[in-house]
Amino acid sequence: MKKFTGQTALVTGAASGIGKAIAKKLGCEGAFVWITDINEKAGQAAAQEIRQEGGKAEFLPLDVRSAENVTSVIDHIVAQNGTLEILVNNAGIPGNPAPIEQMSDVEWQTMLDIHVNGSFYCLRAAASHMKKQRYGRIINMSSLASETALQYFAHYATAKYALLGLTESSAKELGLFGITVNALKPGIIRSALTGDLLDVAEERLATSTPTGTVGSPDDVAAAAAFLASPDSGFLTGISIIVDGGFRLVNEMDKVMIDMVAATAATE
Ligand SMILES: NC(=O)c1ccc[n+]([C@@H]2O[C@H](COP(=O)([O-])OP(=O)(O)OC[C@H]3O[C@@H](n4cnc5c(N)ncnc54)[C@H](O)[C@@H]3O)[C@@H](O)[C@H]2O)c1
Repeated sequence: MKKFTGQTALVTGAASGIGKAIAKKLGCEGAFVWITDINEKAGQAAAQEIRQEGGKAEFLPLDVRSAENVTSVIDHIVAQNGTLEILVNNAGIPGNPAPIEQMSDVEWQTMLDIHVNGSFYCLRAAASHMKKQRYGRIINMSSLASETALQYFAHYATAKYALLGLTESSAKELGLFGITVNALKPGIIRSALTGDLLDVAEERLATSTPTGTVGSPDDVAAAAAFLASPDSGFLTGISIIVDGGFRLVNEMDKVMIDMVAATAATE
């Protein structure tokens, strides 16, 4: 029997990138996966891909900014499948970089609406079902930006730090009900969200990463599958960094590399 056989998973923002990779991973390991996204065409295609690979998946349109839409989608899933074991709060946008004093109200509000409010609405609706079944695995997609912040992305970093507060407080509250709540902090992962950035800076970023590459959505999906599994029941309120070691590298390392290279050249 596969690891997630008999379980139902909901992944938000699963039409592309990291969310799609997580949905495929859970689907190929036996879960019935509900792909949700604002992008209906790509969402339908992602569900179709999972079915073609022998998994079970359906698509539902969901804008996580609407608490009403979230509640009706989660009620629909529970009515169809009977249970909801796994929620992955993944939907997100990169936003536009701006110095603080030039950041608009709309940019700021949209970022918090999608990442923070959207994850809260989904977690709240899922938890009420999970408490009744006394089992659940909730994963919030934070970011390495909640470790190191990110210049000109105050809105994005703030949203991703806020998700850690949601993760830790709900982990305390839901633990006795068999529900774990954890976060993932991906570093630089190749997706639509980072496409423009990687077009200009992939080599530079890969060189600054101990593993020598930027990450793939599958790298994040592997960590998500671990946190989603029944085996991880004693892990709650934590976050896992999936960054190839990128966070460890700083200017001092580069100074050392140059010094060692200079010494080697004179020998
Ligand atoms: N790519 C990275 O390097 C990276 C690093 C750290 C964290 N993340 C986070 O991972 C998550 C997924 O990002 P990705 O890189 O796969 O990007 P992506 O653009 O490929 O996927 C994001 C998905 O979210 C959907 N979405 C956007 N707004 C939505 C809304 N209001 N309701 C529902 N769905 C919505 C989009 O349609 C898209 O399918 C995001 O939360 C992002 O912040 C990404």
